[in-house]
Amino acid sequence: MDYLPLPGTPVEEIDTPAIIVDLDIAEANIKAMASFASENGVSMRPHMKTGKSPFWALKQIEAGAIGVCAAKVGEAEILAEGGVREILVTNQIVSSTKIRRLFGVASRAHVTVAVDNHDNVDDLSMAAQMFGIELGVILEVECGMNRAGVKPGEAAVALARTVENAPGLRFDGVMGYEGSAVYTEDFDLRKQQAMESINNLLAAADDIEGAGLEVKIISAGGTGTYDITGKVDRVTELQCGSYLFMDSKYLEVFGDHPHPFRSALTVQGTVTSKPAPGRTIADPGLKAISTDQGLPGVVSIEGAIVRSLSEEHCVMETQGPADELQPGDKISLRPTHSDTTINQHDYYYCVRNGLLETVVELAGRGRFM
Ligand SMILES: Cc1ncc(COP(=O)(O)O)c(C=O)c1O
Repeated sequence: MDYLPLPGTPVEEIDTPAIIVDLDIAEANIKAMASFASENGVSMRPHMKTGKSPFWALKQIEAGAIGVCAAKVGEAEILAEGGVREILVTNQIVSSTKIRRLFGVASRAHVTVAVDNHDNVDDLSMAAQMFGIELGVILEVECGMNRAGVKPGEAAVALARTVENAPGLRFDGVMGYEGSAVYTEDFDLRKQQAMESINNLLAAADDIEGAGLEVKIISAGGTGTYDITGKVDRVTELQCGSYLFMDSKYLEVFGDHPHPFRSALTVQGTVTSKPAPGRTIADPGLKAISTDQGLPGVVSIEGAIVRSLSEEHCVMETQGPADELQPGDKISLRPTHSDTTINQHDYYYCVRNGLLETVVELAGRGRFM
């Protein structure tokens, strides 16, 4: 059985390693993005590959989002289970098991799925007819990231036609992710790279419309490009996800660039050993905090630098006040990449003014299938 602290518990008494979310900050981030979207006439469809929980999806929808994105069927399942009724699955769902599960979600929520090849369209169409459920379909366009997606031009037009003619499917539009631009630190260069991608996406939309099909949705955007892509008139919705918690990778990317988002998520750890002057050990290791974008930073005290993580140890070089830390003391680490850190935990411990307000189950943990 898990030990779960009661609401009102001071944050320092929450056992570790634990994900701590400052609710005031996360809610302010949601509100700030919602205001940006409404001021710029674009809809929000935040990506739940970050939040991985209906708790955050419903908060985003309450703040004005038209629905959410999910990366995988497993994520879509927990979102529908938690009451989310509008879901765009931004990846290709292939194989009969997953397609059946997708229709399980579509029986409870309005689902749209991304496709990039004809065989997948045929499989989805067969399943739609078998289950008697109309499925929304959007083309994923390869617009510069060299990941998945159909190429703009004839290939995109042909695939859109296939969807349009496929019984049980409804052609909704196009999506693209300008992932090659989101982490570029120089704003002018980021804008140039993002616009190259978005122009490829818009060209695909033009070609498809030129062939007589209606493109209702043009969906794109990451946190790093929200104020570039979100200002493009024809983009109908933004898929940004990370702004909810703002990890240190994105804070670094934005640098001096003005933005309204603040860091809302930390991993709380406990000092477990003080083996030598200048070296202090805490309990969040690789199994509690990801390092795919770099080592985490210590934000609760001056003078501590994370030098390495092993499975269950965080090795810090400490000086000044940080070198006074003793076993039992708590520290806070800010992950460089929230999404891959979140996926390692069972709960969010959501606090307000330093006190636990609610424990939120991380229902989407490990839902990568
Ligand atoms: C398809 C898709 N859309 C949107 C995003 C935007 O996410 P973020 O806001 O974290 O940059 C991602 C990030 O991986 C993505 O893969």
